[in-house]
Amino acid sequence: MRLDGKIALVTGSGQGIGQAIANRFASEGAHVIVSDIVAERAAAAAAEIQKNGGKSSYLILDVSNEGSVQAAFEQIAADFGGVDIFVNNAGVGINAPYVEYKLADFELMLKVNLTGAFLCGQYAARQMLKKGSGRIINIVSLSGQRGGMGRTGYGASKAGLEVLTKIMAVELSPHGINVNGIAPGPIESDVTTAMHAASGTREAYRYLVPMHRYGEVEEIAAAAAFLASGDANYINGHILNVDGGFGTAGLMYPLPRTEA
Ligand SMILES: NC(=O)c1ccc[n+]([C@@H]2O[C@H](COP(=O)([O-])OP(=O)(O)OC[C@H]3O[C@@H](n4cnc5c(N)ncnc54)[C@H](O)[C@@H]3O)[C@@H](O)[C@H]2O)c1
Repeated sequence: MRLDGKIALVTGSGQGIGQAIANRFASEGAHVIVSDIVAERAAAAAAEIQKNGGKSSYLILDVSNEGSVQAAFEQIAADFGGVDIFVNNAGVGINAPYVEYKLADFELMLKVNLTGAFLCGQYAARQMLKKGSGRIINIVSLSGQRGGMGRTGYGASKAGLEVLTKIMAVELSPHGINVNGIAPGPIESDVTTAMHAASGTREAYRYLVPMHRYGEVEEIAAAAAFLASGDANYINGHILNVDGGFGTAGLMYPLPRTEA
């Protein structure tokens, strides 16, 4: 199995994309530390992995609180001697028009999605530097690459994380640590259930994605397992869009076919 013997930590993995990544890493042989700000979610997700025969434990980790981050990484150092694979997945999203966007919401997006990833990545990298190897994967978003409506705080935070991914890759790879990002398009999860609730939003996504469907959490997990594995040894500083072609699409209309 591709991740045999590895210790993997995934933030916000009590549900959604993070949980799918945790499940996939466990099925590839890693011991997965499920972590979430919501303790019950993390405990249940770790228990499910164990029930399915995988190796897992859980931690309560609020990525936006340095005390919580420090305590979690100290626990991991004591229990496992550090992490080999780390995924910055925890994220929050609030949609509102730019002129109405609340400062508190903007600051929350930055605090969790960008500052939280910066902070956790730093603690993970310090453990990996001691080992001389590691993999870090940052979950960014198509909303950080395009000017999507309503994405003032969320998009800005993910754009920041995308550049941070590249900076981390350049600085850390000489020390054996590869850093990459995954940019999901619209994926079925609690986030999209809430953020895409407004009338017409789902239809707009289905139209704009060339594959004309939402992605599944397992499709993001498959990309994460690849980037975490030896199959991706020479991939570094890359943002892998897993978005059904959303990021590359231009004009789309029903092109009339002519018989040859
Ligand atoms: N779902 C999508 O369509 C989509 C698209 C692009 C990017 N993403 C990104 O993927 C990641 C996961 O999204 P999801 O759809 O699975 O979301 P989700 O809401 O289903 O899960 C997010 C998890 O993060 C946890 N969390 C929230 N704040 C936290 C904090 N401060 N510290 C630790 N954990 C915290 C939540 O408790 C939850 O379990 C996020 O970074 C999101 O921005 C999602």
